[in-house]
Amino acid sequence: MAEAIRVGIIGAGWPGTAHAKGYAEASGFKLVAVADLIPSRRQAMMREHGITKEFADAKDLLADKDIDAVSICLPNYLHAPIALEALKSGKHVMIEKPPAMNANEAKKIQAAAEKKKKIVMYSVQRRFGPAEQAAKQAIAKGYAGEVYHARASYTRTRGIPLGTGWFTDKSKSGGGALIDIGVHMLDLAWFLMGQPRPIGLYGMAYQRFGNLVPKDHICNCDDAAFALIRFEGGKSIELATSWAINQPPHQEGTVCRMYGSEGAVDVYTSQGAVLYRNFKQGEQPKATPLKQPKLIGHAALMRHFKECIQGKATPIIGAQEGVQLMQMLDAIYKSSDTGKSVEIK
Ligand SMILES: NC(=O)c1ccc[n+]([C@@H]2O[C@H](COP(=O)([O-])OP(=O)(O)OC[C@H]3O[C@@H](n4cnc5c(N)ncnc54)[C@H](O)[C@@H]3O)[C@@H](O)[C@H]2O)c1
Repeated sequence: MAEAIRVGIIGAGWPGTAHAKGYAEASGFKLVAVADLIPSRRQAMMREHGITKEFADAKDLLADKDIDAVSICLPNYLHAPIALEALKSGKHVMIEKPPAMNANEAKKIQAAAEKKKKIVMYSVQRRFGPAEQAAKQAIAKGYAGEVYHARASYTRTRGIPLGTGWFTDKSKSGGGALIDIGVHMLDLAWFLMGQPRPIGLYGMAYQRFGNLVPKDHICNCDDAAFALIRFEGGKSIELATSWAINQPPHQEGTVCRMYGSEGAVDVYTSQGAVLYRNFKQGEQPKATPLKQPKLIGHAALMRHFKECIQGKATPIIGAQEGVQLMQMLDAIYKSSDTGKSVEIK
């Protein structure tokens, strides 16, 4: 049996906990260390997974030569510096979303990963959800024909995150609703479309609900954003996202609808992902709920990470895709600031 990959979790909030569970379920990993500034967070993870080493600061964990791979589940402003340090110390890296604060940081991560020949993978776990995997398979098999447009949205009516205090401070988060939850749906729609190269977009971002944030928190981020993104090959994604917005209650949550030449796929329905085909004038199309895979979520994400480390696969969301994703987010903010459409080079 191949030796287990020894993993350290950096940041033991909700995402760190989900990563640890994913590694345990995926098999082939051994959780050996956790780092978090908050003792109770790391101790809870140690108890749950039999982890023996604990560190307060991320950098102390990185100095441990006994660790092969790390999950970086820290506030956004620490993704790039800690990833660069992890790569420098020869570790494979899984990084929470968003990839970084901006595309420049993501490019530095890409360059370091190439130099050190280590795996960088971004933890956009939506790609590994049950409905999402089923949608990907159906689209890849061509059941919807050529998919040329997507409607993607993740809108909360009221749901501004605070975490340990950094989410609404742009200098630490890089942005608000767009970079925090919009990134999930943008990434998913882009993935389902086959990751065409983004070429330009028009975007608008709003900050209208700063009054919902406690007074002692810095709050200078978008609480809603909208964009129409153009891709090579005449494809497009319309994106909507909010931490807070006045909307009809049934609009709360996620939408990802893919439109193709032969059919459509609706990812989020009460039946899971549904494929619609046989469109005829005056008739309902045929609706086919899509079969879901067994291995899902963080366990599937970590299994893919393991296969990449073992050289059996290349990351479906690696260093290069992280740069492209950040380029789209940067461009949406730039378009909103300038009032102009922005080209992506
Ligand atoms: N994929 C998802 O669905 C999802 C959900 C929530 C958050 N996230 C992402 O995960 C990351 C963390 O978010 P969160 O909700 O856990 O935030 P949080 O503020 O709740 O937790 C951050 C943790 O990092 C720790 N930390 C900060 N600096 C540290 C350092 N130098 N060394 C060690 N530990 C340090 C803090 O003590 C804290 O426990 C963010 O990038 C966020 O975007 C992803």
